Amino acid sequence: MTLDRVAIIGAGRVGLTLARALIRSGTIVNVFGREVPTVDQADLVLIAVPDDAIGDVATRLARAGTITGRHIVLHTSGLRDRSALAALEPTGAALGSWHPLQTFAMPTDDLDVLVGIAAVIEGDGRALEAGRALAERLGLQPIVEITAAGKPAYHAAAVFASNYLVVLAEIARHLGIEAGAGAASAEMFRPLMQRTLSNYSHVGVASLTGPIKRGDAGTVERHLAVLTGDQRTLYLALGREALRLARQAGLEPAMATAIERLLTAG
Ligand SMILES: NC(=O)c1ccc[n+]([C@@H]2O[C@H](COP(=O)([O-])OP(=O)(O)OC[C@H]3O[C@@H](n4cnc5c(N)ncnc54)[C@H](OP(=O)(O)O)[C@@H]3O)[C@@H](O)[C@H]2O)c1
Repeated sequence: MTLDRVAIIGAGRVGLTLARALIRSGTIVNVFGREVPTVDQADLVLIAVPDDAIGDVATRLARAGTITGRHIVLHTSGLRDRSALAALEPTGAALGSWHPLQTFAMPTDDLDVLVGIAAVIEGDGRALEAGRALAERLGLQPIVEITAAGKPAYHAAAVFASNYLVVLAEIARHLGIEAGAGAASAEMFRPLMQRTLSNYSHVGVASLTGPIKRGDAGTVERHLAVLTGDQRTLYLALGREALRLARQAGLEPAMATAIERLLTAG
């Protein structure tokens, strides 16, 4: 599979990061913004635009008539599948999606951001083959193949693993301020979060500690007495998940039932 020339459409966080990494790997890369792209020389066309714009870009490429059966066209959305490129079906090009499972808050020269992260691929046989070759070229590992039907659940998982982690950090910071910790609240929960992630990567679910794991219903009750609104709703829902894990880890049934009562009473 030849991937010597890559055209990237979309000069944003993902597009520019991939462009830099590909150039460093010796690939010839052309990056396009909103202008009509000339992709006839490219082996692979990588579309890195917002999810809702992928269909428009595919339509524009189809109208320009430069995509042929020898091309491979992949987009980088975590949610959308090859059907987002349906406008290109008549060209005979191989179509698919290629999602680097990483968060890109800004374009970066730090190419470690790609090394050792999963590449999640979906699409036609030839698109999958190209997706594997692209991932190998950039050092992504593991390479995980999923079906189109699996993409929404996969992407929701990524939202939990990344976006909602930021949300949880912000809730902790705000509660710290309410508790009187002041400006220190911005920093003081960070080592706790980092250690928790590090423990989780070493021992998995055994890294769960805290009142629910210990069966300490009194502590849960005191927390609930000071939480209101969405923070309370989240505490209750996450608490029920924590209780499920604590039960699996052997929490005494009477303690589990006492906590369950608190977490389901609302
Ligand atoms: N950010 C992440 O953490 C991340 C991680 C993995 C995958 N992804 C996926 O990668 C894709 C791109 O995300 P991103 O975060 O890189 O977005 P982004 O930073 O907002 O960049 C999107 C780029 O696409 C351009 N664009 C928008 N509409 C276009 C169109 N119709 N034709 C050509 N270019 C157009 C934008 O140009 P203008 O500046 O002119 O608007 C911008 O340069 C999305 O599918 C996203 O789901 C993102």
